[in-house]
Amino acid sequence: MPNSDSYDSVAKALHWIMAAVIIILWVVGHLIDAIPKGDFRSNIIGMHKAFGVVIAILAVARLTWRSTRPTPALPATMPPMEQFLAKLGHVALYVLMLAIPLDGVLLSQSGGRAVSVFGLVLPTIVEKSDALKSVFKQGHEVMGWMLALLLVAHVAAALRHHIILKDDILRRMMPGRG
Ligand code: HEM
Ligand code: HEM
Repeated sequence: MPNSDSYDSVAKALHWIMAAVIIILWVVGHLIDAIPKGDFRSNIIGMHKAFGVVIAILAVARLTWRSTRPTPALPATMPPMEQFLAKLGHVALYVLMLAIPLDGVLLSQSGGRAVSVFGLVLPTIVEKSDALKSVFKQGHEVMGWMLALLLVAHVAAALRHHIILKDDILRRMMPGRG
């Protein structure tokens, strides 16, 4: 039976694998411009796109899994405003885990490049258009920075719970418990 006081092992595995991949995608995304044009750069961009699409698929899987079991309740000692902000922050992280990859696909396609995920070419959603490309390019960049800011707040909150408030919030997302 799922334990409603802790995240289950699937939720934990998805959380940490996705966190690692997203952080790498973010860093690599910013390095792309510094890599000289050529095969190596094309391969890196191809991997960025493929793993980015994988993140969107895993986010859908994670939300589906999450909907099948109780989510651990936040400590009753947490003020209602903090509980609200914690939930809002999680919703925003899920939205960005879906919106950034979708924007990335639209960015590539409006730039005239098909998106291939490990050999599987995605259907065309938008045709080539310079005007749309610049909108999606800005969207990718702005949402990337929103994700970075949220992540800093998310980690700071997790550490505050662990070090200052000394509650179970960080432990219950750690492997090997519950
Ligand atoms: C969670 C997933 C993703 C994250 C966190 C992410 C993050 C980033 C970041 C931070 C950049 C550098 C800033 C910028 O130039 O916009 C970038 C660039 C880029 N990303 Fe992503 N990305 C993700 C998914 C995708 C996907 C799925 C695609 C396409 C299928 C994609 C295509 C691109 C492209 C083409 C660039 C280079 C833009 C340019 O310099 O013209 N990204 N990404
Ligand atoms: C890009 C990276 C990350 C993303 C997108 C992310 C996203 C999320 C989301 C959406 C949740 C809510 C889980 C749910 O209820 O379904 C969550 C929970 C959590 N995350 Fe992250 N996370 C990231 C990185 C981290 C890091 C680096 C830490 C380490 C300090 C961390 C610590 C936690 C903790 C402790 C929880 C449980 C909160 C609770 O019990 O309510 N996360 N994360």
